[in-house]
Amino acid sequence: MNKRIALVTGASSGMGKEFARRVCGEYPVDEVWAIARNLGRLEELQNELPVPVRAISLDLTDRESGDKLRALLKEEKPDIRVLCNASGFGIFDRFDRASEEDNLGMIDLNCRALTQVTYLALPYLSAGSVVVNIASMSSFQPVPYINVYAATKAYVLSFSRALNRELNPRGVRVFAVCPYWTKTAFFDRSNKKSVITHFDCMYTTEFVVNKIFRTLKRSKKDYVVPGTYAKFTHALTKLLPHSMVMSVFMRQHKLGKK
Ligand SMILES: NC(=O)c1ccc[n+]([C@@H]2O[C@H](COP(=O)([O-])OP(=O)(O)OC[C@H]3O[C@@H](n4cnc5c(N)ncnc54)[C@H](OP(=O)(O)O)[C@@H]3O)[C@@H](O)[C@H]2O)c1
Repeated sequence: MNKRIALVTGASSGMGKEFARRVCGEYPVDEVWAIARNLGRLEELQNELPVPVRAISLDLTDRESGDKLRALLKEEKPDIRVLCNASGFGIFDRFDRASEEDNLGMIDLNCRALTQVTYLALPYLSAGSVVVNIASMSSFQPVPYINVYAATKAYVLSFSRALNRELNPRGVRVFAVCPYWTKTAFFDRSNKKSVITHFDCMYTTEFVVNKIFRTLKRSKKDYVVPGTYAKFTHALTKLLPHSMVMSVFMRQHKLGKK
């Protein structure tokens, strides 16, 4: 029998790490494959999990990483029960002030790499397998000063929901997660210039990951917005014109003047 695995990108930190910690309590897997750049932090997971962890150090923006993952999957032919795409980063700044590398890097990691990892995993997914893609609350509307990041997350949500319909006949579920602000290392990189100043609500990774597993178990939804406050904000973005939501956001963070 082929090894049943959970494949988690972004497993060295934040929501991906918490997902990796929890996944073998929720799904019958023999091994967790953990992907990120920081090998040391991936290896630390081994002390916390009851199943073997394969720590795979890959920079997913590096074009060769796809080839390495493809080769590894071909060699091992695992039965991927769960794929979680949690690698991602954002840069909060005015578009013209963020570097070209950062603007394109967000597209590379959040969209291209997520699409490629999903594509490479496809032959190894079977009935009952789940793909969890971490999108964002910013998936639902344009967000000035979080411009490219929000657009990448709109891609993740749209891609995931449509792919869910395509894979449903195979018994594979694709599920997008749209977290509100969540306390992780994400902000060390994204908000270095303190462009975003108003954090009205901050969730924990434990809370978000709990909601992911609960929703997967209890509903057939293709995406979740974890948390009551987040759901309320989501409802507003559906009810109000996006131009108004953007104006409120700009005012909250005093962005016109920055
Ligand atoms: N925190 C929030 O408020 C928030 C809200 C909504 C959505 N999200 C999304 O949630 C997901 C998880 O983020 P997080 O908040 O948990 O942040 P985090 O703690 O910074 O985790 C990001 C993960 O991505 C990995 N990563 C970054 N660059 C990579 C690269 N080039 N190749 C491979 N892996 C890379 C990081 O590992 P290495 O550095 O070791 O490579 C890390 O494991 C992201 O997609 C993020 O956009 C976050």
